[in-house]
Amino acid sequence: MVGATGAVGSTILGVMRERSFAADKIVPFASERSAGRVIDYGDTDLSVTALSDESIQGFDLALFSAGSAISAEWAPRFAEAGAVVVDNSSQWRMEDDVPLVVAEVNPEALDGHRGIVANPNCTTMQTVVALKPILDAAGIERLVMSSYQAVSGTGQKAVDELHRQAEAVLDAKELPAPVVYPHQIAFNVLPQVESFKDGDDYTTEERKCMRETRKILGREELRVSATCARVPVYTGHSVSANVETRDPLSPEECRELLAAAPGVLVVDDPANGLYPTPLDAAGRDEVLVGRIRRDPSHDRSLNLWIVGDNLRKGAATNAVQLAELLHVRGLLGAARAA
Ligand SMILES: NC(=O)c1ccc[n+]([C@@H]2O[C@H](COP(=O)([O-])OP(=O)(O)OC[C@H]3O[C@@H](n4cnc5c(N)ncnc54)[C@H](OP(=O)(O)O)[C@@H]3O)[C@@H](O)[C@H]2O)c1
Repeated sequence: MVGATGAVGSTILGVMRERSFAADKIVPFASERSAGRVIDYGDTDLSVTALSDESIQGFDLALFSAGSAISAEWAPRFAEAGAVVVDNSSQWRMEDDVPLVVAEVNPEALDGHRGIVANPNCTTMQTVVALKPILDAAGIERLVMSSYQAVSGTGQKAVDELHRQAEAVLDAKELPAPVVYPHQIAFNVLPQVESFKDGDDYTTEERKCMRETRKILGREELRVSATCARVPVYTGHSVSANVETRDPLSPEECRELLAAAPGVLVVDDPANGLYPTPLDAAGRDEVLVGRIRRDPSHDRSLNLWIVGDNLRKGAATNAVQLAELLHVRGLLGAARAA
C-alpha cells in the first residue's frame, strides 16, 4: 500500500480491514518523513516503510495512492518486480494498455492488464456507476454533468484549510491566506477543480471527467460536457447529471433500473424531503441517486442527482474491489498477461 498515511491510503486500509481482505502480509509505504510510524491494523501493528529497490520486492499486489509523480516513478518498478499495481492517480488512466476499471461497470477490462490497472477519478467513478444501467437499457447519446466536490478530494491539507478558514469566519478573526485553493473555500463555491492547464478553458478535472467517462463506458463517441466546482463540504461529491438517452426512458423506468443496479441506492422521494446529500453518502460504499426526473426541454433526457463518498467508492472501495477481482479472476502474480 503506497501512500498509506494519506487520506485515500488510510481509507484503503480501513476498507481492507472491513472486508477482511485476505493477505499474508501488508506493508504500508509512505515518504521518508513517515518511515517507522506505526499504523494500527486491527490486531496487527504495521510499520511504515520508505520506497526503495529492496523494499518493493516480493509483492503480488501494490495499491497506490501517493500522487502522479510517485506513481510515474514507482508503479513500473513494482510491476517489474512482479506485482500488479492498482493506481489511484491520474498518471496511467488514459494509456491504451492500462485498463480503467469500475468494479460494477467494466470488470472484464481487467483481463487485458499488463501490470498496471487504473482506478478512475472520483467524480467520474460515482457518475458511471449510475449511468451504466441506463446505458445498457436505453443507450446514452449525450451527458452534461456538473459537480459539487468536497475538499477531502484534494487531500488532508485541504480539509485543514477549510476548517481553519471556517473557524476564523465564525470567530470574526482575520482569515489566514488561502494556500491550497486560489480563493477562500469556507462559505464559498469555486468553479475551479484543479488547474487550467496550458490556457485550456476547461480544468484538468473536467477533462478527466469527459475522457474517463468515455473510456470506462467504452463509448468514444459519447458527447460529454463537464463543469466541476469545489464546495465547502468535507466529504462526499455531488453530481447533477443531464442524460440524453438513445431510446425513450421514463423516470419510473430509470428508478427501477437503478434500484436493481449493483452499488446504487435510490433515495428519491423529494416530496418527503428524501434525496441524497453528501452527509448521507459519507462513510457508505453505495452511490446514492435521487431527483430522477424528466428534462422538460428534451423528450429523451432525464436529470439525476448522484452523490458518493469520494474517499470510499470514489477511491478506496473501488481500489479494494479491483484487488479482489484481480484475485478472483486469477490475474495476480504469475497468471498475469505477458
Ligand atoms: N482524496 C480523494 O478523494 C481522491 C480520490 C481519488 C483519487 N485520489 C488520488 O489519490 C492520490 C492520493 O490522494 P490523497 O488525497 O490520499 O493525498 P494525501 O492525503 O496528500 O496523501 C498522500 C500520500 O502519499 C505519500 N507520499 C508523498 N510523497 C511520497 C514519497 N516520496 N514516497 C512515498 N509516499 C509518498 C504521503 O506520505 P507522507 O504522509 O509520508 O507524506 C501520503 O501517504 C492522489 O493521486 C489523488 O489524486 C484522491
